[in-house]
Amino acid sequence: MTCIVIAITKVMLHTTQELIAPLPVDIRPAQMSDIYPMLSLHREAFADKFGAAFGVRGMARGIEAMAEAWRRQGSAALRGMLVAYADDQVVGTTTLRTWEMGGDTSGAAEMAFHQVLGTWGVLRSTFALSLVDHQVDRVEGFISDVAVLGPYRRRGVARALLARAEEEARIRRKRYLSLYVSGSNLAAQQLYLRAGFVNCRIRHSLWASLILHQRTWVFMRKDLA
Ligand SMILES: CC(C)(COP(=O)(O)OP(=O)(O)OC[C@H]1O[C@@H](n2cnc3c(N)ncnc32)[C@H](O)[C@@H]1OP(=O)(O)O)[C@@H](O)C(=O)NCCC(=O)NCCS
Repeated sequence: MTCIVIAITKVMLHTTQELIAPLPVDIRPAQMSDIYPMLSLHREAFADKFGAAFGVRGMARGIEAMAEAWRRQGSAALRGMLVAYADDQVVGTTTLRTWEMGGDTSGAAEMAFHQVLGTWGVLRSTFALSLVDHQVDRVEGFISDVAVLGPYRRRGVARALLARAEEEARIRRKRYLSLYVSGSNLAAQQLYLRAGFVNCRIRHSLWASLILHQRTWVFMRKDLA
């Protein structure tokens, strides 16, 4: 009887260890072929933001507008974007924005949004997507788009993506990393605290509260000494 209990315990322990074992992922810069997998992951992970930007019924067109905007900007649109690959698919993403990367000054993204969504669609989506935007400093690496596919969570994918983004920031001689996380996203806050970020300041936004239903945003920062 004792042997059976020990054997069952060993199997359970083994299974638990397998479940929580970090997933081996290949992290690399995003390519054009990753556009749709990335957007579909963001649509799932950032449902509130996408819903506010495009409306539930306009989601497919919204995704098409973003894909078209990225295609027109070409590789410049993908600067700083990292994807985690496992099981032959994109399972996670993050973006490291730096001052040198700038923004889209060609107007290509705006044109694409106009064509796909029309004038009202552009106004609505641009406003919603820019609600928690951030002016990146010269010595800063700004992290965004941290997202992992549901079935691949709690296996170290986001931790690995953050570590890679940090490595890239150090290569670019940035002095600190920063990001915004909503006050109610305790899972993400825990992830960032564990990765060495500290709460820096709280931002309250009436518009974000009305449109994204998130009034409080925490600005977190990690010094790269
Ligand atoms: C937040 C998110 C990116 C975490 O991705 P993940 O790959 O599951 O995270 P990891 O497995 O690398 O977790 C690393 C650590 O973060 C913390 N963490 C991650 N998810 C957590 C959760 N749901 N609850 C509590 N802590 C959590 C834990 O400390 C974890 O370490 P542990 O598993 O050893 O305890 C993922 O849940 C997600 O995509 N959420 C939706 C999108 C989102 O909210 N993005 C953040 C925007 S700011």
